[in-house]
Amino acid sequence: MGEGREQNEAFVTLATNDTYALGCLVLGSSLRRVGTTRQLAVMVTSGVSQSMRQQLGGLFNQVVEVNVLDSSDTCNLELLGRPDLSVTFTKFHCWRLTQYQKCVFMDADTLVVQNVDELFDREELSAAPDAGWPDCFNSGVFVYVPSEQTYRNLLSFAVTGGSFDGGDQGLLNLYFNKWATEDIGKHLPFTFNVVSQAFYSYLPAFKQFYDNIKVVHFIGAVKPWHHAYNTASRTVTQLPGTGHSQQFLQMWWNIFMDSVQPNLDPQLYESSVVSQNLSCSGIAGDLANMSLERSGEDGAMRDDRERKLQWEQGQADYMGVDRFDNIKARLDEKIAQPTPSGSGKAPEDQPPPPSE
Ligand code: UDP
Ligand code: GLC
Ligand code: MN
Repeated sequence: MGEGREQNEAFVTLATNDTYALGCLVLGSSLRRVGTTRQLAVMVTSGVSQSMRQQLGGLFNQVVEVNVLDSSDTCNLELLGRPDLSVTFTKFHCWRLTQYQKCVFMDADTLVVQNVDELFDREELSAAPDAGWPDCFNSGVFVYVPSEQTYRNLLSFAVTGGSFDGGDQGLLNLYFNKWATEDIGKHLPFTFNVVSQAFYSYLPAFKQFYDNIKVVHFIGAVKPWHHAYNTASRTVTQLPGTGHSQQFLQMWWNIFMDSVQPNLDPQLYESSVVSQNLSCSGIAGDLANMSLERSGEDGAMRDDRERKLQWEQGQADYMGVDRFDNIKARLDEKIAQPTPSGSGKAPEDQPPPPSE
């Protein structure tokens, strides 16, 4: 392979907040572990903190700031059950990375378990079938060719054609609407984007093809970072009813604990509370403050994480723990606390207090 391809081809991912950035860090580490020869690029929006950007910069060759594109298609997103996915139009910015000749986009909730550099031999738009509707492709992993023109086309298509699921997948499937019929070469094997829960719908196939699995995708509202991790036994305990594969969930956590968690900034927790950005940096902040000396994840911390998951899903307990006076009391308490010395943060780096 010529050296050119190593410089001109890239894996690209996206985070609009610190929580998804955790996923990007595990994904990037998993790509490094399987010895990819290609570039790694991550797109971030203003919701990603400075310290998280720094950590991403240590792993990815490029951290690219993009602005949020929001479909605001609440109707179709309700149908999909994921009101949080309106920001996934931000993914379209990946077509603007024209410094590369070819790219593979990967969701922040994917995990690479075997080298997938061969994907760069495929053409735009190559993707694997969606497990829910196999005549559509899943947009968590796709091969594409950066082009400003395609980016503009996608945006005008968004205005005229829209998206049938309110997210990027519903739009990309309408735009690349020949995918299902035109060229079988653009159908990636399912092993390049195995939905973590699919094992349970076809267990014999999972056993048969297990060794071929290259990419696992933790699709759905519950992500690996939402599950409870026991720091004493170093094992993950699934939240009930989520149906993720235990092996792959454990693999995600092993990478997280080995390569990501030790470098997380403990200050993330403070900034998430002070900036009132509980649904953004909250989980990342909690995980930054995990300690292996503890005898396991305590109940209070897990309850807090489960509450944050509900918050992310728009189910804040406004009448109970999340009621305004509770939030305000917590903010007041955090603002009143002096900045810990030796944090390396100048006072002017602190996020502004919330306005009353
Ligand atoms: N994403 C993000 N912030 C969000 C939601 C989504 O950065 O609040 C990005 C992230 O890269 C994520 C992708 O968009 O992996 C698609 O969302 P998700 O993986 O949650 O969708 P699913 O695969 O579960 O349908
Ligand atoms: C899908 C894809 C995800 C996409 C979402 C919204 O479930 O896995 O990548 O963002 O749909 O269209
Ligand atoms: Mn995903």
